[in-house]
Amino acid sequence: MPDTSRHDAWVAGDSYDLYMGRWSRQIAPIFIDWLDAGEGRDWLEVGCGTGALSATVLARANPRSLLGIDPSEGFLERARAHVHDPRAVFQIGEAGALPVETGSRDVVVSALVLNFVPDRERALAEMRRVTRPGGAVGFYVWDYPGGGLGFVRAFWAAAAEIDPAAEELQENKRFPFCTPVELSALAERGGFVAVEARAIEAEAVFRNFDDFWHPFTLGTGPASGYCARLSPDTRRHLADKLAATLAPAQDGTLRFTTRAWAIRGRA
Ligand SMILES: C[S@@+](CC[C@H](N)C(=O)[O-])C[C@H]1O[C@@H](n2cnc3c(N)ncnc32)[C@H](O)[C@@H]1O
Repeated sequence: MPDTSRHDAWVAGDSYDLYMGRWSRQIAPIFIDWLDAGEGRDWLEVGCGTGALSATVLARANPRSLLGIDPSEGFLERARAHVHDPRAVFQIGEAGALPVETGSRDVVVSALVLNFVPDRERALAEMRRVTRPGGAVGFYVWDYPGGGLGFVRAFWAAAAEIDPAAEELQENKRFPFCTPVELSALAERGGFVAVEARAIEAEAVFRNFDDFWHPFTLGTGPASGYCARLSPDTRRHLADKLAATLAPAQDGTLRFTTRAWAIRGRA
């Protein structure tokens, strides 16, 4: 099987925020309100990245504490630089072996991470291990199979016309399990009960073509990692193709729906 994960670059936090963090930040408040985990709780966020969801937890859920873990030191640096709150700590860690005591967290959450984790079952079992009895779990991932990340789909469709190898790198091919049924089953196999799923939609509005294109050139995330490794000529060809294909609104903006599947449950 080809290693389709080789472009998943998680290093530069500022590039990530431009590429994907800004769209995760739109989903996060709706997710946190739906999770309805109560105030004064001890939270763990798995794969906190640059702090898109962490900042929302602090702003909306009034936690007692929030521990964000992520394997990328570059992302953690950005989270520490932008999330100033004495209740929040960001540290290196892996979903498959959480550096957290058993039964020590009231709420365990994760945003846009589980599809990138090689052993998802183990990750869910770890999330269950560290959750107190009766505590809450919640996570969301993009609806890749249903075209829930329209601007990334548009990128790959154009890329595949130039480079047939790009076909297999598309997230809808790599992550077909990102459906409410399969994600709920994953949470249940992890040991969570009262599992529920819902869609959360928002709109990704790019000011102009450059606002759409530039983040793809920065090399953070699957499509962007792929794009940054193209030769300058091929990259220009791809940009021209996309610019000719995409239909801007009258004000010059490019608009795409984003849709995530959110899951919640109890330990
Ligand atoms: C798409 S980003 C999501 C970041 C952030 N949660 C957000 O919503 O913007 C994916 C994140 O998963 C992290 N990640 C990748 N593999 C991981 C693993 N095995 N365990 C924990 N985090 C992981 C990456 O470092 C990156 O921060």
